Amino acid sequence: MTAPSNVPRPQLRVPPPPPGLRERFTFRGNLLDTRHGWLRLTPAYSLHLVHELIAQRTRPDLPVLDPFAGTGTTLLSCAERAIDAESVDLNPFLCWLAAAKVARYGSADRARARALLADLSAAARDTRRAPAWLPTIHHRERWWLPERAHALGRAFAALSAGSASPRARDLLRLAFCRALIETAHVSFGHQSMSFHPAPEGESASAGAAAVADALARALASVLDAARDALPRARLGAHLDDARTLTSLGRRRYGTVITSPPYANRMSYVRELRPYMYWLGYLKDRRDAGDLDWRAIGGTWGSATSRLTTWKPPTERRVRASGFRQLVAAIATHSTVLASYVHRYFLDLDTHLIAVFPHVAPGGTVHYVVGNSLFYGVGVPTHELVAELLVGAGFSHPAIRLLRPRTSKRGLFEYVVSAERP
Ligand SMILES: C[S@@+](CC[C@H](N)C(=O)[O-])C[C@H]1O[C@@H](n2cnc3c(N)ncnc32)[C@H](O)[C@@H]1O
Repeated sequence: MTAPSNVPRPQLRVPPPPPGLRERFTFRGNLLDTRHGWLRLTPAYSLHLVHELIAQRTRPDLPVLDPFAGTGTTLLSCAERAIDAESVDLNPFLCWLAAAKVARYGSADRARARALLADLSAAARDTRRAPAWLPTIHHRERWWLPERAHALGRAFAALSAGSASPRARDLLRLAFCRALIETAHVSFGHQSMSFHPAPEGESASAGAAAVADALARALASVLDAARDALPRARLGAHLDDARTLTSLGRRRYGTVITSPPYANRMSYVRELRPYMYWLGYLKDRRDAGDLDWRAIGGTWGSATSRLTTWKPPTERRVRASGFRQLVAAIATHSTVLASYVHRYFLDLDTHLIAVFPHVAPGGTVHYVVGNSLFYGVGVPTHELVAELLVGAGFSHPAIRLLRPRTSKRGLFEYVVSAERP
């Protein structure tokens, strides 16, 4: 099985995956596990793969780095094994989530969270009061019936008002995030989230009860996992841009295990917007478009219109064979998509150049990536990343095919690995 491409490229061997691994190498494999399952988010990658890559570290004396941390799968997997690790993500909600996943929660934090739940539950059920605040998420009524939105709003006000340690509050925020999705009219059956029709009307007390019950279930499950203390390790979740990595200072790592966004126009900000609006990380659509524009491969909302006027910098080019022809082939169908692909690989290249000095000699990097297909033009991201890694100074690039990605034929997930000489 090889990915389609209209552009001649140097031949790199891609061994076929062992049979039956589709489930093992998707985020579904994460769901049942402890803290990994705290929030159900699409971008998460496979735990099995991360465990395998952690076990193969060539410089186990040095910490692990994940520069596109998402939900913090790498950070938490390292934490569970007492391995020092740091992560970077541009999205402040995901940074909070990664840090919350690896935090230590003492018995006092858990007891305080339980006590605070009683306040949230009482507030949710108090249907005589109007919520003090509701998020301005676009088409809020498509997400929640008004009765449920109001109950969530009352519970959220109680969460913000109650006195509790930051840790106890984080446990409740996690439970709140789960409850807000459980009480929304959305499903996660596909690659990304989709709406389903709202039930016909609901009384205020039924809506309030649905929210209070969901909060109680969510907190019980979060507390279960929080009780299992993680072993001691030096861990950090940084809010930063993987293209600059300034938060890392001069620190060096032995292993990079990561998965940058795929060039598939999926927007993480779009996927995460219910959590981000409720928790205050997004105020309006402009915030959302700005954050997506800064993210690699982001094209949601205003980010798409900005692409129409985007011009590649004259002083830089993507140093991979056939790249110019690839962009030109896409441009015959859509200039915006050609700019999208061009910008995506320039950004990825900028990141690889930025990460190189942070990898110690003898260290190894692993990038989980997916290829793309635009108007029948194959974008062999795995091969391009392998070439860009070499251009950035890494050696011995190797590509492993992990799994077919979606029902769309020809889309695959790969892990591209290389060494720091
Ligand atoms: C495929 S997801 C990572 C998923 C992760 N492996 C997990 O298990 O949850 C890619 C992540 O890259 C982040 N990202 C995009 N552009 C970035 C940038 N310039 N700097 C840092 N992070 C970025 C996105 O916010 C997203 O969380």
